[in-house]
Amino acid sequence: MNGLNTKRVFITGAASGIGRATARRFYSEGSELVLIDMPSLKESELESEFPERMTYIQANVTNSEDIKKIEAQMNQGVDVLINNAGITRDATLHKMTDEQFDSVIDVNLKAVWKLSQIATKIMKDNAKPGVVLNAASVVAHYGNFGQSNYVATKAAVIGMTKTMAKELGKYAIRVNAVAPGFIGTDMVRKMPEKVIEMMEGKAPLKRIGEPEEIGAAYAFLASDDARFITGTCLNVDGGLVLG
Ligand SMILES: NC(=O)c1ccc[n+]([C@@H]2O[C@H](COP(=O)([O-])OP(=O)(O)OC[C@H]3O[C@@H](n4cnc5c(N)ncnc54)[C@H](O)[C@@H]3O)[C@@H](O)[C@H]2O)c1
Repeated sequence: MNGLNTKRVFITGAASGIGRATARRFYSEGSELVLIDMPSLKESELESEFPERMTYIQANVTNSEDIKKIEAQMNQGVDVLINNAGITRDATLHKMTDEQFDSVIDVNLKAVWKLSQIATKIMKDNAKPGVVLNAASVVAHYGNFGQSNYVATKAAVIGMTKTMAKELGKYAIRVNAVAPGFIGTDMVRKMPEKVIEMMEGKAPLKRIGEPEEIGAAYAFLASDDARFITGTCLNVDGGLVLG
């Protein structure tokens, strides 16, 4: 038993891409899901896929009123928080607007910090072990053209993950990051075909990844099999980061 069937798991950005595939994986492991995203429940079509053991919170993770709704649910129990929601607003340095920079910081970094702060305070106060998992990216390791905002957030998430792991280890709270390579979700599919082909060519495994392969990494790191792992960033990238 890896323990996931006893866990109440919060996943942000769960309506699509990696978040949705991750929700599927935890659901199949028997976890209770609290899924968070911006569309209405009906639009998200999550209910038909997860007919039981699932609570949906329609929320923007950058909105303080919405964060209160998430906190109220966490007060009912939180074992695992997966800070998956993320956005890109790409532009080269001289063309990037303040709005593009700030919006990416708010979703990819500040919301990760805020939700981690709330979840781990509840875990600590209840003297229950817990797990926080944060979405980084391989671009945090080597930069990416046109993404000074996005790369800054992903590198910061790795540093913040290590710091939270140091601060929270004594409460049996583990904090890790996952750095996906190029994964076949909407975020990547809207990139030019040429860029996708180049990325496939660069990775030693010669393909882009599947969202399920990131969900599997989250499931491992949340499980009791990873009980001695904290403060790490797991690259799940087909070897792309090797260059
Ligand atoms: N796809 C990749 O290749 C890749 C690579 C590296 C890292 N990542 C990271 O993995 C995570 C998921 O990426 P994805 O490809 O599945 O993206 P996606 O665009 O398919 O899904 C992101 C989800 O987050 C939600 N979201 C965005 N802003 C939100 C907000 N303010 N509040 C609540 N929900 C919000 C969206 O509605 C969407 O459902 C992101 O953090 C991304 O940076 C993805």
